[in-house]
Amino acid sequence: MTEQPSFSVAGKTVLITGGTGGIGGAFARGFLTHGAKVIVADLKPPRELQPRELQPRELQPGDLRPDIRYEPLDVRDDAAVDALAARIETLDTVIHCAGRLVRWEEYKPEVFMDILNIHLVGNLRLANAFRPHLRATQGCLINIGSMYSYFGAAHIPAYAAAKTAVVSLTKSLALSFAADGIRVNAIAPGWIKTEISRPGREDPAFNAKVTARLPGGEWAEPEDLAGTAIFLASPAARLITGVTIPVDGGYTAS
Ligand SMILES: NC(=O)c1ccc[n+]([C@@H]2O[C@H](COP(=O)([O-])OP(=O)(O)OC[C@H]3O[C@@H](n4cnc5c(N)ncnc54)[C@H](O)[C@@H]3O)[C@@H](O)[C@H]2O)c1
Repeated sequence: MTEQPSFSVAGKTVLITGGTGGIGGAFARGFLTHGAKVIVADLKPPRELQPRELQPRELQPGDLRPDIRYEPLDVRDDAAVDALAARIETLDTVIHCAGRLVRWEEYKPEVFMDILNIHLVGNLRLANAFRPHLRATQGCLINIGSMYSYFGAAHIPAYAAAKTAVVSLTKSLALSFAADGIRVNAIAPGWIKTEISRPGREDPAFNAKVTARLPGGEWAEPEDLAGTAIFLASPAARLITGVTIPVDGGYTAS
């Protein structure tokens, strides 16, 4: 009889780019809670590791943990990604969660290319650099799409193009990396309360359009995505590769 698959990520090591951000931070907390070790790679350090004067609030017990490590990283920098890969010994999961968008500025080619570089080329860079690590652990890569993986956006055309391409890259990498026993999937978050989405939430017309289509009528918390990432990283997802899973409160269904 086939063994029942485990949902556990205990003891696994997870690298999260953009791990200082809203969604990446929720992933970090989720994996830590379930016994994994987390490496946060971001342009800026997580709040717990920032100098005291920069912290928006007092440290709480549990903020500083031995199982979390910060690595400064710009995912646009080939050499920095390669250097990080050389510093990391073992890795079970890479989540590419770094992100940026610039409303109404992305028609400028240099901005367009920067957004593509972070979301799409950054994805490829990480996949290439960490393929040997993931091969060694039979691990997985988790990419981050968006609702804009499925439709266009007049105000953020580069972001939408990148997020659509992430779905395709996820399929191509899944086919290529299967030879090494590595799974590659993506999560397409719905409407999540973080910094990147703040301008949209604070634009009354945009906000009304989004919430009108959401069956629950509300933006979600970053924590609402963590369970899907943990599941995808667990042995229970061993047959899942090449897919993008919307975690969107029913937005794409309506
Ligand atoms: N918030 C949403 O509603 C939503 C919806 C769909 C998809 N997403 C995606 O989720 C991911 C996480 O976004 P978030 O909502 O947590 O936003 P966020 O702004 O809270 O976090 C983004 C993080 O990425 C980091 N970052 C930006 N550029 C970087 C670079 N060049 N190198 C390394 N780190 C860099 C930032 O420092 C920040 O910590 C992004 O890919 C975003 O596009 C977010």
